[in-house]
Amino acid sequence: MSPQREHWERLWQRRSASDFEFSAAEPPAQLLRLLAEAPTATGPALDVGCGSGVVLPALAERFDPAVGIDISLRAVLEARKYSRGAPGSILVLVAEALALPFGDGQFAFVFDRGCMHNIPRPRWSAYLRELERLLKPQGLLQILFVGSTLDGRGRLSIRRIAAGVGRRLGRGKLRRSALVRDRGGGAGLSLSRMRALLPASLEPLRIEHFPYRTSRGRNRLFTHCIAMKVAR
Ligand SMILES: C[S@@+](CC[C@H](N)C(=O)[O-])C[C@H]1O[C@@H](n2cnc3c(N)ncnc32)[C@H](O)[C@@H]1O
Repeated sequence: MSPQREHWERLWQRRSASDFEFSAAEPPAQLLRLLAEAPTATGPALDVGCGSGVVLPALAERFDPAVGIDISLRAVLEARKYSRGAPGSILVLVAEALALPFGDGQFAFVFDRGCMHNIPRPRWSAYLRELERLLKPQGLLQILFVGSTLDGRGRLSIRRIAAGVGRRLGRGKLRRSALVRDRGGGAGLSLSRMRALLPASLEPLRIEHFPYRTSRGRNRLFTHCIAMKVAR
C-alpha cells in the first residue's frame, strides 16, 4: 500500500465524512450551476477523490455512468452506501488520482473538489495532464481546490503565505508581498499560474477565487476552474 493510501485509510478510519474540512451534505453550488447552464458532451463523468460520494447522484442525473474514485477503500464503501438507490448508474472504485485506470478520451466531464490540494504542488501539472488525457474532445473539467488560507477578517493569512513564498524575505517585505498577491487575484496560486498549469488542450473558461468557511470554522480561499478540452 502506498504511503498516501495508508494516510487516507487511517484518516477515513478515524473520521466520518462530516469530520473532513470540506465535507458538505450537498454538491457544491458551482457544480449545480454548471450542470444547469452549460451544454456538455454526453457520456460518462468522473469524480476524482469522491470521498463519501456526495456529488455522484447529481452527476448520474446528467451522465451515464457517474464514476467516483478515491484512494481510500473506506471512502469508496461510504460512497457506494451513499449512492445506493439513487437514480442512474453509479460506479465507485479505489484508484489513485495520478494513475487513473481508464483509457484516453473516455469522459465527458471530470470533477474534483478537494483532491488536487492534497497532491503535492510539484505534481499538479502531471495531475492536470492525467485529467486532460481522460476527457473527450469538448469535455469539461471542473476543479475546486484550496489555494490559500484567510484570517478571521477574510484577509490572506501571512503565516500560510510565509510557508509558501516568504522564507527568503524579511517580515516587512513579506507583508507587502502578501498584499500584492491578494490584489493580483489569488493567494498561493495566481490566475496566470493556474492558466500555465493547464495543458495546452485545456482551454480555461473560468478561473476565480472565493472564500469558503470550513466545517471547523476556518476560512480558506478556494480556486474554482472550469476548462474545456479543445483540439490543438
Ligand atoms: C477533502 S476530501 C473531499 C471529498 C469529496 N470530493 C467532497 O467534496 O466531499 C479529499 C478526498 O480525496 C481523497 N484523496 C486524497 N488523495 C488522493 C489521491 N492521490 N487519489 C485519489 N483520492 C485521493 C481522500 O481520500 C478524500 O476522500
